[in-house]
Amino acid sequence: MKIKKITTTALLEMKKNGEKITALTAYDAAIAKILNASQIEIVLVGDSVGNVKLGYENTISVTLEEMLHHTKAVKRGNSFSLLVTDMPYLTYQLSIEQAKVNAGRLIKEGGAEAVKLEGGLEVANTIKALGEIHIPVMGHLGLTPQSIHQIGGYKIQGTTQESKEKMVRDAKILEGAGVFAIVLEAIPEDLAQEITKKISVPTIGIGAGPGCDGQILVSDDLLGLTEGHVPKFVKQYADLKTEIYKAVRAFKNEVKTKHYPCS
Ligand code: KIV
Repeated sequence: MKIKKITTTALLEMKKNGEKITALTAYDAAIAKILNASQIEIVLVGDSVGNVKLGYENTISVTLEEMLHHTKAVKRGNSFSLLVTDMPYLTYQLSIEQAKVNAGRLIKEGGAEAVKLEGGLEVANTIKALGEIHIPVMGHLGLTPQSIHQIGGYKIQGTTQESKEKMVRDAKILEGAGVFAIVLEAIPEDLAQEITKKISVPTIGIGAGPGCDGQILVSDDLLGLTEGHVPKFVKQYADLKTEIYKAVRAFKNEVKTKHYPCS
């Protein structure tokens, strides 16, 4: 039977059946339409929109209004994938009430079907409270970009015995709080595999090796559109930046030499 729409329960079934889950970021309707037609199971409106599309240095400056704007655009291009939106920095950490209002706006006004929060134990009560008002939550452990100033940059996490044990504990806590999946970013393969075996909800890895239940990439990294640093684990499936440069130069040259438009 062909699935018409991916839901959180469909993802749980995929984990049970050992079927890998695909996830990519999207920030606009045009890319969302391509991911949707390709039946990518999860489309994430990541707060990576900050560095990838808005020219910010990192994700910390991204606002709820910006996430709403991009979620609405992605929603217009999506019908199949589960649409998850990141809650940006300081929209869920200050109080549970504030988290409910802000997550509620992403769902009600933006059209997101779930939200993603970064952190472990410290966000568990917030995740439970969102579940009580029927908002599905995806967790995010390991390299959590909203904490880069605290963790000292974009570095692999979970490398000491203590931090490994804490991450396994946090993953169990998130599962208990009701997440439907957890993103594991930039952690050792064996740790990602251990977490994947120990929890019943799918793990979606990014720089966490092949042992996760699914994989996510920033779509601009996969397409070769990213300016500047690209993490080592990224596989670039296309080189669109080079193609865009070529097209722009060809246009400029043809206009200057009066070959375009032709009469
Ligand atoms: O914001 C984002 O794009 C993310 C992915 C890297 C998982 O959180």
